[in-house]
Amino acid sequence: MDNFILKGDIVFSKSMTELEISESSFAVCENGICKGVFKTIPEKFSYFPVKDHTGCLIIPGLTDIHLHAPQFPFCGTGTDLELLEWLERCAFPEEEKYSDEAYAQKAYSAFVSEMIKSGITRACIFATVHTKATEMLMDMLDKTGLVTFVGKVSMDRNSPQSLTEKNTDDLKNMLCNIQGKYKNTFPIITPRFIPSCTDEMLDSLCEIRRSYSLPVQSHLSENPSEKELVSKLVPDSDFYGQAYDMHSLFGFEIKTGERFKTIMAHCVYSDDEEIKLMSKNGVIAAHCPASNINLRSGIAPVRKLLQSGVPVGLGSDIGAGHTLSPFRAVTDAVQVSKLYQRLKDHDARPLTFAEAFYLSTHAGGFFGNIGKFCDGYMFDALVLDDSASRPLYPMTAAERLERYAYLFTDNKGIKEKYVNGKAVYLQNSV
Ligand code: GUN
Ligand code: FE
Repeated sequence: MDNFILKGDIVFSKSMTELEISESSFAVCENGICKGVFKTIPEKFSYFPVKDHTGCLIIPGLTDIHLHAPQFPFCGTGTDLELLEWLERCAFPEEEKYSDEAYAQKAYSAFVSEMIKSGITRACIFATVHTKATEMLMDMLDKTGLVTFVGKVSMDRNSPQSLTEKNTDDLKNMLCNIQGKYKNTFPIITPRFIPSCTDEMLDSLCEIRRSYSLPVQSHLSENPSEKELVSKLVPDSDFYGQAYDMHSLFGFEIKTGERFKTIMAHCVYSDDEEIKLMSKNGVIAAHCPASNINLRSGIAPVRKLLQSGVPVGLGSDIGAGHTLSPFRAVTDAVQVSKLYQRLKDHDARPLTFAEAFYLSTHAGGFFGNIGKFCDGYMFDALVLDDSASRPLYPMTAAERLERYAYLFTDNKGIKEKYVNGKAVYLQNSV
């Protein structure tokens, strides 16, 4: 049943800086598409069933545009290490385990059940190099109804032998196998990062991307040692992002002039030239504040990225990040932006709560029309029961939402979750 109406206190971003608040109102969904928010139900929708959530908050779905599903088992550990050592000691050893299908089944099941319960409605996910395990993850995710992009990771250098591929044949076979197989889950080209990929591999990924018209995700300018390593590995690049761009994996096809969606995670050390190219090519930055704190990476210049026209979304970067909660990513983004202004750049205005909420609900435009309860938008929604917060005096719905994001952890209060008008999680049915 994709025709229904949600009643409650509705909050969404009117613009990047401003929240639209409609208390005790009706959000109408027809065939998975939003028809708008109304104070009283318009005649033409009067026969739609109403789900009455009076007193609850109703907001658009939140997104996670950068995370590593195979790293879920160890998140919350290894946080004393910086990126390159952390990869060798935590990430790679865990990812090696996914050659074992029984292990992958167990670990990915646990991950997927947490995804269902979280506030995430759409996500962009790294898997591992293993095609069997990656397909298993895609099978599981597709069934959830969440909209997900899943990348079989590509890597052919500077990696443990069991994670080092000879070529892109496995990826090609996998893409062939899964063509047309899923309704909600889609492939995405995923070179791990420049230190893990030879020129040959990047060129091959560029060809595969073109022939299947796929988006791209990777990592960019996360850590000072990583950045230095890239400048040694690709001496003819002027900046890190150029090392992707040389192979047409940075939002723009040099040969054909085609544009394609690209997400680059972190961008903590992106300089002016890199930011300029991201803006020109429409490359989306995935800001992952929890990960950047845990691995001591630093703080991404989010205000500067936004002012330069770079679209920004938020990511948990599990397992360098330790929580799947997209509300936590929102509040972390606000908090680190305050430190950034105080410690690094006095002119960089901190993100407001409304701005960080916008980043999460709009995902840098990666998923198209989401994030608003306006006519024609895809109907992704969360129903939040914040009654446990018991304020001493009445608060506006906007204040309640901010408080919910800061105070409610572990998915507490998530009552219902909808993606494309389908219920993907109902608290009382589990
Ligand atoms: N850079 C390359 N691989 C990874 C990874 O798995 N996590 C993070 N945070 N950065 C990376
Ligand atoms: Fe990552």
